[in-house]
Amino acid sequence: MSPLTGAPRDRLRIAIQKSGRLSEPARALLASCGLSWRESRDRLFCYGETLPIDLLLVRDDDIPGLIADGVCDLGIVGRNVLLEQAGERAANGRAEAFREWRPLGFGGCRLMLAVPDGWDWRGPAQLAGRRIATSYPALLSNWLQEQGIAAQVVTLSGSVEIAPRLGQADLICDLVSSGATLAANQLRPVQTLLESEAVLAGPARDFEAERAELAEMLLRRLDGALRVRHSKLLLFQAPRRLLPQLLSLLPDAESPTVMRLDQGEDDLALQALCHGAVTWQRLEELKRAGARGLMVLPVEGMLA
Ligand code: PRP
Ligand code: ZN
Repeated sequence: MSPLTGAPRDRLRIAIQKSGRLSEPARALLASCGLSWRESRDRLFCYGETLPIDLLLVRDDDIPGLIADGVCDLGIVGRNVLLEQAGERAANGRAEAFREWRPLGFGGCRLMLAVPDGWDWRGPAQLAGRRIATSYPALLSNWLQEQGIAAQVVTLSGSVEIAPRLGQADLICDLVSSGATLAANQLRPVQTLLESEAVLAGPARDFEAERAELAEMLLRRLDGALRVRHSKLLLFQAPRRLLPQLLSLLPDAESPTVMRLDQGEDDLALQALCHGAVTWQRLEELKRAGARGLMVLPVEGMLA
C-alpha cells in the first residue's frame, strides 16, 4: 500500500514546497523542531524518523487544496497563496477549509500593483477602466471592490511582468521580493495590497484526538524555535555602577539576569537573551561602555 492511502492516520503529514524560495527554510525550520526524515527515492514523500511526522513535497499552489481535502494536516506556504485560494473558495460559496496557524518570519514579500516606468501614479482612483494582469485574481478583485474601483482583472498563470509590454494589460499586480523582476521589466511598484511571508497553514477546525496531541507538540516546538530564531545569549561582566548605562544598550534583551561575582564586590556578571541582532558593532559599543569578557552564544530552542 502506498504511504499516501489508507484510512485512519495516526501520523501527521506536512506539505512543503518541493523546490523554490520556501523549500529550504521550511525544511530547516522543521528540522530545528527535532524532525528528521528518511528520503524516499522519488523525493515526494519523506517518512518521519524521529517522530511520526511525514513530509510531502509538492507545488506550493497545491498546498491549501491538500489541507482542504485532508490529504495533508499542515503545510508551509506563502500567505499570498493561502489567502488567494481562500478568496477563490469564498467567491464560489464554499466553506472555509484552511487558515493561517502561525506566521513563520521568512519568505517575506508583498503583493503589489506595478505600473510601467513612464506612468505618473496619482493613486488608486486612476485604475478605473484599466486592465490589470495578475496571478492573484481573488485578492486583486477583493481589493478593487474595497476601493470601489471598476477595473478589468486579467488572470495569467505566470510571466505576469511582461503583460504590459505584450499589450495584454496596462499594469500588473504581482509579488515583489527584491524588486529585481519589476526593474528588469521597466515596471515600478506603487501600491501594496498584501504583506506576505511563509506561514504554517492548517485546517479551519481543530484536529481529532490522535493527531491533535502530535500537532500540539509540534506547535509548541515551533513556537520555541521561532522565538529564539534570531536570538543570542549574551554574557559579560561589568562594574555595578555602569549597569544602567549597559542595560540601556540592550533594549531587546529579555529580563537580563544579573549575578554577583565571587570576588570583586563591585563587579557583576550579566546574562541576557537578546532578540535583536548581536553585531560586532554592538559588542564594541558595550565594551566602550565598560563591559568586559563579552561572549555571544547561539540559542537552539526554548520551551516556555
Ligand atoms: C514571484 C513573482 C516574480 C518574482 C519577484 O514569483 O511572480 O516573478 O517572484 O521576485 P523579485 O522581486 O525578487 O524579483 P515566485 O518566485 O514566487 O514564483 P511563482 O509565483 O511562480 O510561484
Ligand atoms: Zn507558485
